[in-house]
Amino acid sequence: MKVKSDFLVIGSGIAGLSFALKTAQNFPDKKITIITKGSKEESNTKYAQGGIATVYDLTQDSYKAHIQDTLIAGDGLCDESVVKMVIIQATERLDELLNWGVSFDKNAQGEYDLGKEGGHSKNRIFHHKDITGYEIERSLLKKVNQTPNIDFYDFHYAIDLITEHQVFGDLMSLETDKTVFGAYVLDEKKHEIKTFTAKYTLLATGGSGQVYETTTNPFVATGDGIGMAYRAKARLADMEFIQFHPTALYNPGESPAFLISEAVRGFGAFLRNEQGQRFMKKYDERMELAPRDIVARAIDTEMKLQGSKHVYLDVSHLDYEAFIKHFPNITRKCESLNIDIRKDYIPVAPAAHYMMGGIIVDKNAQTSIKNLYASGEVSRTGLHGANRLASNSLLEALVYSHNAATHLAKNYNDEYQLPSIPEWIDTSTDRTMEKILITHDRNEVKTIMSNYVGIVRSNERLLRALRRLYVLYQDNKRLYDHAEISTDLLELRNLITTAYLIVEFSRKRKQNKGGFYSKDFI
Ligand code: FAD
Ligand code: SIN
Repeated sequence: MKVKSDFLVIGSGIAGLSFALKTAQNFPDKKITIITKGSKEESNTKYAQGGIATVYDLTQDSYKAHIQDTLIAGDGLCDESVVKMVIIQATERLDELLNWGVSFDKNAQGEYDLGKEGGHSKNRIFHHKDITGYEIERSLLKKVNQTPNIDFYDFHYAIDLITEHQVFGDLMSLETDKTVFGAYVLDEKKHEIKTFTAKYTLLATGGSGQVYETTTNPFVATGDGIGMAYRAKARLADMEFIQFHPTALYNPGESPAFLISEAVRGFGAFLRNEQGQRFMKKYDERMELAPRDIVARAIDTEMKLQGSKHVYLDVSHLDYEAFIKHFPNITRKCESLNIDIRKDYIPVAPAAHYMMGGIIVDKNAQTSIKNLYASGEVSRTGLHGANRLASNSLLEALVYSHNAATHLAKNYNDEYQLPSIPEWIDTSTDRTMEKILITHDRNEVKTIMSNYVGIVRSNERLLRALRRLYVLYQDNKRLYDHAEISTDLLELRNLITTAYLIVEFSRKRKQNKGGFYSKDFI
């Protein structure tokens, strides 16, 4: 079956939805198709807690300060021109969110109640209680559903991008200049593979936290966009920089890990070790509000020194009523585990949270593949450098989806005709494969990555990871070539590819920076 559109959007988080809304408005007579695996709302976006960093009132804050904070957090590897472009656009993008119906909390004086997080010199985080992402996803989905020229296919899993390789065969795939013509997509309910063709495609498939055992990312964050882009030979960068969030709730058996927002530390919470001592002073004068890579490494060191599986977050000294008002979801979660935050410390440990690297894009979100754009966590824009400043990623997605939409509005080519695109060829011969093999392999990827490619790495650990991943790659290839295609199998393929890329990029880096830290370079 073929589905033809002008624009194909892969992914329904903030990057995909905001691009689709803008493009639908810019091209009322063209068809925009969104596909997403699983349900419409499931995404990293839905779980965002802290909010969106935006300089709004220039009497209270300045672009210069936000730019400076971003550059410091990025540990010298940000692209300064990108940082300036994103931060200066933030006010306009926030106004758009407000127009789309997103509500942000205000204080008793009717002014926006701005939160603070690690690495920020000012309170500048717009939030909706501690469920900002849920509010954004809700509002954008509502708006998309009201837009007639957007078609939405949920439970549709993008398997691979269609380029010259599929259209003209292997010989043409050797050409360096590639063009995207859409994607092959698994209808997860009908178990049928469909061909979605489009003149222009936006990859907005989000992150890859699921490569690790402990992560704040939901099950859908399996690095699919990275896998697809890598196979299509798009250029990637910075894959070694993984952000571990310092304070995921330590609750063995719960996966994904529940996040205790950094905004809680911005609100005044203390970190304490197993003995109840505050320890951040030993590591950074900014204490609990140092950038994330520093706090996560400090916690990791403290846990290793004490032989403990977690440290604690202490909010017992804070105004309880004010705390519940800002963090009702976190308070409820603690209550459900019999943690009374008025007197009990909250056990927390670092968890894989965000992928700084990804598909290289220019300021218009264009990738190295013609007509392929990328926005959001799957992309590498140069904003984050080696370590993302808290609450800068929702903003980055909004800005790059806006820039992509604007670029297309100026450059859309009505004359352009797609070549004839072949349907997917099913090569599966074995329909008896045991699903449990996939589960075992998925768990193995996570164990390898957590044991050898975590917060602290070394050459020896990386080599071990590489060898073990190679065995998994070979097993997965055999399965992929013969077994019936399924979401589990495809996700595993992308998890292995993403893990491999994180390891290979790590092996090439020879200096510690932000989200990459090796014992060999201390
Ligand atoms: P996502 O929101 O992850 O959306 C990706 C979409 O692509 C999903 O719909 C997914 O199902 C779909 N998809 C993936 N693969 C395929 C495929 N093969 N085929 C079809 N569809 C596919 N950032 C901030 O700025 N502020 C915060 O407060 C904040 N808090 C966070 C809290 C948590 C717990 C987490 C996990 C992240 C947080 N982040 C925060 C990071 C931020 O939420 C993400 O970086 C951002 O939402 C990414 O948006 P996105 O649109 O790129 O991807
Ligand atoms: C948080 O609320 O701590 C997450 C913020 C982010 O990842 O930017």
